[in-house]
Amino acid sequence: MDDYTNGNYTNMSDYYDMIMTSGYYDYNTISDAILQSMKGHRLLEIGCGTGLILEKILKEESISQATGFDLTESMLDIAERRLKGFENTALYLQDVTTLDLPGQYDTAFSYGGVWYFSRNDDGLSMISHISDDEGNRKGLSKLAQHVVVGGHLLLGIQGPHVDYESPIKGDMVYSQKIIPTTIGFTKNYFLKKNDEVLMSQTINYRVYSFEDALSLLAEFGFEYKSVKEDDNHIFLKFKRV
Ligand SMILES: C[S@@+](CC[C@H](N)C(=O)[O-])C[C@H]1O[C@@H](n2cnc3c(N)ncnc32)[C@H](O)[C@@H]1O
Repeated sequence: MDDYTNGNYTNMSDYYDMIMTSGYYDYNTISDAILQSMKGHRLLEIGCGTGLILEKILKEESISQATGFDLTESMLDIAERRLKGFENTALYLQDVTTLDLPGQYDTAFSYGGVWYFSRNDDGLSMISHISDDEGNRKGLSKLAQHVVVGGHLLLGIQGPHVDYESPIKGDMVYSQKIIPTTIGFTKNYFLKKNDEVLMSQTINYRVYSFEDALSLLAEFGFEYKSVKEDDNHIFLKFKRV
């Protein structure tokens, strides 16, 4: 079987929640934006990680069902513990390139999951955790089979990828280093305490120009709905046609 997996967050999973909730992502704003832009009631998170977004969303009474999948077992284990009090959720250990879930969804979303957009001085580009173009095509094809016609795909927009270092808590410092590659960039993540490396992880990302991303998504039935002034600017919205 082909293996396109590159999103292995095993090393980071023990520290993921601490890093992300120290200001890396604003989970309240992210979940509000999803609730505002979603269509229908069956929600699917692509690359749900430890379930931080799903937890916020499931607290909303209007949500009847929220499902997530992720290929990293240690991340999903944390999500399972986090969400065990909710009845209206399901989690699956799956890779999007071979996605096979029981049913279809009205809205699928990814914030920092498999695919997302990054804003820099040149505009928007799409970042993928799948470094191989064929793998991206397989993933989008599988995803399209799981989103109802007329449903939505929401892909998060983040800031540019840059080198930085930030204190987390206690004496811990998170840092990331970006190295450009021919297909995009490699990101090295580190968590250090008094110069001792507690965690390090490397992910190779593929970058698609905005135009290439829109035509790739359109090929698999995801049509871009342009961002209006009154829309939130946290997600780009695509309609499944
Ligand atoms: C930066 S984390 C984002 C997690 C979550 N969306 C959040 O906001 O905290 C990216 C996640 O995408 C998952 N991922 C990457 N490639 C994937 C693939 N091909 N299929 C499923 N999940 C994938 C990783 O395992 C990781 O948990």
